[in-house]
Amino acid sequence: MSVLLAPSILSADFAALGDAVSAVERGGADLIHVDVMDGHFVPNITIGPPVVAALKRVATVPLDVHLMISEPDRYIEAFAKAGAAYLSVHVEVLPHLHRTVHAIKDLGVKAGVVLNPSTPAAALHDIAADVDFVLVMSVNPGFGGQTFIPRSESKLREVRALLDRAGNPAPVEVDGGVDLGNIARVVSAGARMIVAGAAVFQSSDPERATRELRAAAAAALASPVPR
Ligand code: DX5
Ligand code: ZN
Repeated sequence: MSVLLAPSILSADFAALGDAVSAVERGGADLIHVDVMDGHFVPNITIGPPVVAALKRVATVPLDVHLMISEPDRYIEAFAKAGAAYLSVHVEVLPHLHRTVHAIKDLGVKAGVVLNPSTPAAALHDIAADVDFVLVMSVNPGFGGQTFIPRSESKLREVRALLDRAGNPAPVEVDGGVDLGNIARVVSAGARMIVAGAAVFQSSDPERATRELRAAAAAALASPVPR
């Protein structure tokens, strides 16, 4: 399995999202990560289905849509119609997670579940066989440019082991504070979808930053760093 790099447009210039997408695609981005926030589940408010639909018109790679919202069930269909290829929902807000995951899959979209830093990997136990991917938050969701929480590295290993025990080869995604300094460690811990916001879009050259992060991830896959 290869490593997919997913630049997060949260840290891009919202007045020029098309240019941001084109730059990271030139740098080899595998996915575009789109952060949806509602001001309830997280303190920040970002974008909704119309913007995802606009991104879908310009992007040539799949859209990875991360729903940081209190009532994802109400919006899943709208984001699927807008063009999400991957759709992830937080376990913390969903009492009927099994129903939600299957509703996403029934729409023909890859279904992911997300764990906040304080949510144990064990919360996945009874849904592990059903998911298409798992997203481990390595910062508290809500803002770009935060510092990677070190405990996330062992959380990635725990989630990988849990999926393996369920017989599910679904990839593990990591989101928050990933940069050139720690990308080798998260890949070595099992992450195969890597989100990077500030490390890409706060750099002077997002195309080059994407290329460098992707190369570092591929190198770590070939020769993992020791624990
Ligand atoms: C945080 C978002 C992230 C964010 C990552 O709530 O879910 O996707 O854009 O940005 P960086 O890489 O800057 O932490
Ligand atoms: Zn995200």
